[in-house]
Amino acid sequence: MVVVPAFAKLNLALKVLYRRDDGYHEISTVFQSISLADSLEIEAEEASSTLVECDCSVHFDGPNLAATAAELVLAELNQKAHVRIRIDKKIPIGGGLGGGSSDAASVILALPALLGRCLSEEQSLGLAARLGSDLPYFLLGGCARASGRGEVLERLPDPALLHGILVSPGVSVSTPAAYAALGRPNRLDLTGLEQEEIMRKFRELLDCIEEQRSANAWRDLCENDFEPVVFTQHPLLALWLDRIRATEPLLARMSGSGSTLFALFSGEDAAHAAAEELKVDISGHATGIRVELLQTIDRRHYERAWHTALSSFTDGASWPPRSLLV
Ligand code: C5P
Repeated sequence: MVVVPAFAKLNLALKVLYRRDDGYHEISTVFQSISLADSLEIEAEEASSTLVECDCSVHFDGPNLAATAAELVLAELNQKAHVRIRIDKKIPIGGGLGGGSSDAASVILALPALLGRCLSEEQSLGLAARLGSDLPYFLLGGCARASGRGEVLERLPDPALLHGILVSPGVSVSTPAAYAALGRPNRLDLTGLEQEEIMRKFRELLDCIEEQRSANAWRDLCENDFEPVVFTQHPLLALWLDRIRATEPLLARMSGSGSTLFALFSGEDAAHAAAEELKVDISGHATGIRVELLQTIDRRHYERAWHTALSSFTDGASWPPRSLLV
C-alpha cells in the first residue's frame, strides 16, 4: 500500500485557437503545478481476475477517471490484479484545477511500481492522453507548455516560487459547454495572420518564462480566453475577480474553463493578507466562499514528492518512477 499525492494545476495562460475536425479545440496553455493536492491510498495485489475498487471522500457524478486509469494500466501491463484506491479529495471538483485528471495520472505513475512492473514514459503518456486532454501534463508536473488538445507537452523552466490564493465561488462550469460557448471557427476559416495575432502575447509569455524573467515581466501577458464567455454565464465570477484584483496581486485569473479563480502575489504575507480580506464582506461577515493559500510547485519538488511517496518501491532517481524489481 502507498499514499501518493495528486497535485492540482493552474493555467497561467490559456489560448483557444480553432475547432478541429475531431471536435476538440486546438489550444496553447502554460500549466503550473501548485501545492493543493488530493491524496490517494493505493493497494494492489496480483490476482487471477481483475477487480478495481475506488472510493472518494466526496461524492461526484461523472466518470471515475482514477478507476479507469487502473484498468488501462493493468491491460497495458497484461496483468490481472485487485486494486483498491481511496481518494481524499482536496481539489475542488469541476473547478479548472485538473483534480480528476491528476488523480488518474497518479494511478498511472504509482500502480506499475506497486506491482513491481514498469511502463515507459511513452506508454504512460499514451494511456494518459486516452483518458483526458490535460492528463499527460500530470506525468510531468512543474511548469510546462501544452498544445494540440492539451496533450502535446514541452517542459519549461520553473518560475521562482510564487505564493498565492485560490478562490472557489462554488459555481460549476461544464468544460464541453465552455468550449462550445467560445464559438471558435474551424481551422481553415482562420488565417495564419489571425493565428499569429491571437498568439502574440502568448509567445511573449513563453519567451519571458524561457528567459527565467520574474513574474513582474510576464504577469500582463497571461490571458485566459474562457474568462469572457464563462463570466457572461456566471457574472458572480467576474465580481469575485474584481474583489481579488482589489487586493493588488501580481496576477489574478480564472484557471482552465473555471470556475476557480487564482491570484499570485510577490510574497507569502501579501497572499495571507488577501486570503483573510476575501473571507469577509465589507460589513465583516464571513462570505462562506472557499479561499485557500497556495504555493507553486516546481518540477524538482514534484518529482521529489513522488520519489518520497514511492521510496519502498522505486529506485528514487528515474522519472517516471521505476520499480526496483525491473
Ligand atoms: O479531453 P477531455 O475529456 O478532458 O475533454 C472534455 C471535453 O472538453 C471534450 O469532449 C471537448 O468537448 C472539450 N475539449 C475541447 N478541446 C480541448 C479539450 C477539451 O473541445 N482541447
